[in-house]
Amino acid sequence: MKFLFQMDDPKKINISEDSTYMIIKESLNRGIECFYNDPNWVYADINRKNKIKSHIFRIFLKDNGTLTYDIKNKINVDLENFSAIFIRQDPPYDMKYISNTYLLEKLKKPMVINNPSELRNFPEKHIMMNFPDLTPSTIISSDVEVLIKFIEKNNEVILKPAYGNGGLGIVKVDASKRNLTNFLSKYINQFSNNPIIAQRFLKNYIRGDKRVILINGNVKGSVLRVPKKNSIKSNFHAGGSAVKTSLNKKEKLICQKIKNFLINKKLYFVGIDIIDGFLTEINITSPTGIQEINRLDGVNIEKSIINFVLKSLK
Ligand SMILES: Nc1ncnc2c1ncn2[C@@H]1O[C@H](COP(=O)(O)OP(=O)(O)O)[C@@H](O)[C@H]1O
Ligand SMILES: [Mg+2]
Repeated sequence: MKFLFQMDDPKKINISEDSTYMIIKESLNRGIECFYNDPNWVYADINRKNKIKSHIFRIFLKDNGTLTYDIKNKINVDLENFSAIFIRQDPPYDMKYISNTYLLEKLKKPMVINNPSELRNFPEKHIMMNFPDLTPSTIISSDVEVLIKFIEKNNEVILKPAYGNGGLGIVKVDASKRNLTNFLSKYINQFSNNPIIAQRFLKNYIRGDKRVILINGNVKGSVLRVPKKNSIKSNFHAGGSAVKTSLNKKEKLICQKIKNFLINKKLYFVGIDIIDGFLTEINITSPTGIQEINRLDGVNIEKSIINFVLKSLK
């Protein structure tokens, strides 16, 4: 059996933090051959029945636990040859990312995690449009006037670029801020004039942002990310710390309410973010947090992922 991992360079990943590393290691331990693919290497040969091909490298686990591949052993393959393909490259979510989904969605045989067409349909912040009852008041817009009205109504809001991640560009603004028009124009411009998200400020952000991992709609674990002092961002990338947690009633209900959506859209491996009982994000591109949850709860989430994939392939 062969699995393909579309990802950042496996030689450069941090093996004590990376979630993809855990999935690869688990696959290798089970005797599955693993290969490294970069999204930029994938191409479509339209006149040959739209063959989707790439040149890839076989991944090996070294004695010291790191991953490696032999740069001299480039393999040209038809991607139909894989049982499963994991889309795990880091954002940005941009035209490069989207272009890759046009190709991968044409594949018939491999199970692609996650479904490329739905990755394209639902950027992780726009996806909240499907769950207005679960999310705080939110506006998605690049129109300064619309944004100002929203800020005046809510008094305190968080701004975020629609296609950002890892805490990029997260700022709190108050309605009393001077030169708001100018500030917003510059903010939008800073993010290529793409839409931005304005969201009601949740004061209890300080208690943490809960990441919950779901596999085919079922909860497999959670971790609370708590921002460091004087920071509004809980993201691990932004220095947030990992705290052991469990789900309360409201949070379990949120997971229940999104379950069928995730299953129907074939969003198999997902990480959702809950702040103060509100769902703020459904991360479908390349969710992380496996190692933090494993360490805090003594579990092996990667085992559940591979079990699920192997069961689905039967
Ligand atoms: N509405 C909000 N109220 C308060 N803090 C927020 C809000 N939205 C985001 N944050 C803070 O910013 C961090 C990152 O926000 P998030 O929406 O998850 O964007 P990203 O994609 O960058 O992770 C959160 O972990 C939280 O600490
Ligand atoms: Mg987030």
